[in-house]
Amino acid sequence: MQSNVFNTRFVGHSFVKLVKVDSTNNYLKNLLSNFEPLPQGTVIMADEQFAGRGQSNHKWLSQKGKNLTFSIFLMPNFLAVQQQFKLNQAITLGITDCLIKLLGNNCKIKWPNDIYFNADKIGGILIENTVRGHKISESVVGIGLNVNQKQFDSSLKNANSLAHILGVDFDLIGLLGDILKAIEIRYDMLEAGMISVLDKDFTQRLLGLNTLCQFSNRNEIFWASIVDVSETGLLILETETGQKWFNVKEVMMVI
Ligand code: BTN
Repeated sequence: MQSNVFNTRFVGHSFVKLVKVDSTNNYLKNLLSNFEPLPQGTVIMADEQFAGRGQSNHKWLSQKGKNLTFSIFLMPNFLAVQQQFKLNQAITLGITDCLIKLLGNNCKIKWPNDIYFNADKIGGILIENTVRGHKISESVVGIGLNVNQKQFDSSLKNANSLAHILGVDFDLIGLLGDILKAIEIRYDMLEAGMISVLDKDFTQRLLGLNTLCQFSNRNEIFWASIVDVSETGLLILETETGQKWFNVKEVMMVI
């Protein structure tokens, strides 16, 4: 375990870099279930994941040594269970705060928590929470960001990376430091109760905000525009038949 590699207050002060692991989220969750007293902000990074996990039981594929695949241990016990989407907002905002400096304002958040550049996915987040009482006691925040990879599996239609977009390769640890710093700033805002700032910034950064886009639900494809996100993270769409609220399993933007 290395310490103080990064210029942060606490995120990444405890830092483990693995050569190969199934999934950094699994590794961190195993440490926690073995009752290891882990400092908040511990970061586990891997050069290679052989069973990287994405949202909805999908795999997360990432070429060895080319990208950022890491997990952060947080203890957001100031958040009630119903507020778990707020953590998602803070994390996606932190990542995009950092990436917008490199990519400009076409770097967006695709609801609920994908990181996009124009119509291409460049990163994703998998947050796994443990609840104690009515509070979130522990959170494993897994982040995958395509950085230096230039070719993608043919099953990934719209994957892209920073290096492919910008034509330069990145130093992974340097970029990780910048992302951790940006996440820490947004996490501090969350802990300080700056909810309305996070809500406003998150909504403004959404891909497809106030723009007519195609969405699909279980049995149809329809046109609608995103107008807002509810307190608990539901997507609010203006459809031909009025405003409707959707949860993650109910709707998907067609890109
Ligand atoms: C998504 O489906 O968009 C979420 C992808 C999350 C991938 C990251 S990579 C680091 C961490 N470990 C995992 O197994 N998954 C997350």
